[in-house]
Amino acid sequence: MGNVVGGIFTSHVPAIGNAIARERQSDPYWKPFFDGFVPVRRWLDAVSPDVAIVFSNDHGLNFFLDNMPTFAIGAASEYRNADEGWGLPVYRALPGDQALSWHIIEHLVADEFDISTCQSMLLDHAVSIPFELCWPGDRPRAVRVVPIAINTVQHPLPSPKRCLALGRAVGAALRSWEGPEKIVVFGTGGLSHQLEGRRAGFINRDYDHFCMDHLAADPDALTLHSALDIVELAGSQGVEILNWIAARGALGDRAAELSRNYHVPISNTAAATMLLEAGTAAESPRIVSLETVA
Ligand code: DHB
Ligand code: FE
Repeated sequence: MGNVVGGIFTSHVPAIGNAIARERQSDPYWKPFFDGFVPVRRWLDAVSPDVAIVFSNDHGLNFFLDNMPTFAIGAASEYRNADEGWGLPVYRALPGDQALSWHIIEHLVADEFDISTCQSMLLDHAVSIPFELCWPGDRPRAVRVVPIAINTVQHPLPSPKRCLALGRAVGAALRSWEGPEKIVVFGTGGLSHQLEGRRAGFINRDYDHFCMDHLAADPDALTLHSALDIVELAGSQGVEILNWIAARGALGDRAAELSRNYHVPISNTAAATMLLEAGTAAESPRIVSLETVA
């Protein structure tokens, strides 16, 4: 019986990697963001998960505009990191969990999701930065990873409804897994941000709060907007919230918010970090909630 223990939702701004490399975590610019990971690391120490299912978007490392799967699942024994041009250090390779990957793939295809399967896949900042934040420095990270890439880049994008359904199908696959592993789910990217064009620097606090307020108790509320509505509401990269929506689906029906951090801005992004516990009623009390604006 696969045991989904919780979900970690976080922005994946590449500049965080440079801040870590330069040890700027306590600088006034960075501290409000890094503080959001204190409760997450405490929870990870207590729970000690074995596997991480990571929903994120590829930023041109594996797939480019000419070749863009809507949903792609890694089935490799190891995933190397590479930098697609930010000048980031190359992070440690992460071990895969091929048996669990194939279990999820079998389940999704039986469920009529037409996914791409990737027996080799590189991981970019969208996976490596959250891992550096969760297990910084040389802290051992025993987790094996199953990466799931969602197209948030090349239109037409999958709908929020379809992403939630994908996540729910992944959750059902995890619950039918016979292994004893403790499984944590990640959704990375967002919240509102736009990197290019006339709206570069666009941030929408109201929409971000709408997403954070509904994520635990009512994720279906996030599917009321179309993917194009979200581009308008959250910016052309803010649509990375699709990764959060899918990850929330994988947590199962009940989830409680344990911590939340919202800090505007980090680089061009409204940076948010949330920790949800799976299987607990949404009315459970929060441990921490922080909000800061630079
Ligand atoms: C930024 C945010 C992202 O999500 C990303 O993938 C790249 C850059 C930014 O705000 O700088
Ligand atoms: Fe991104």
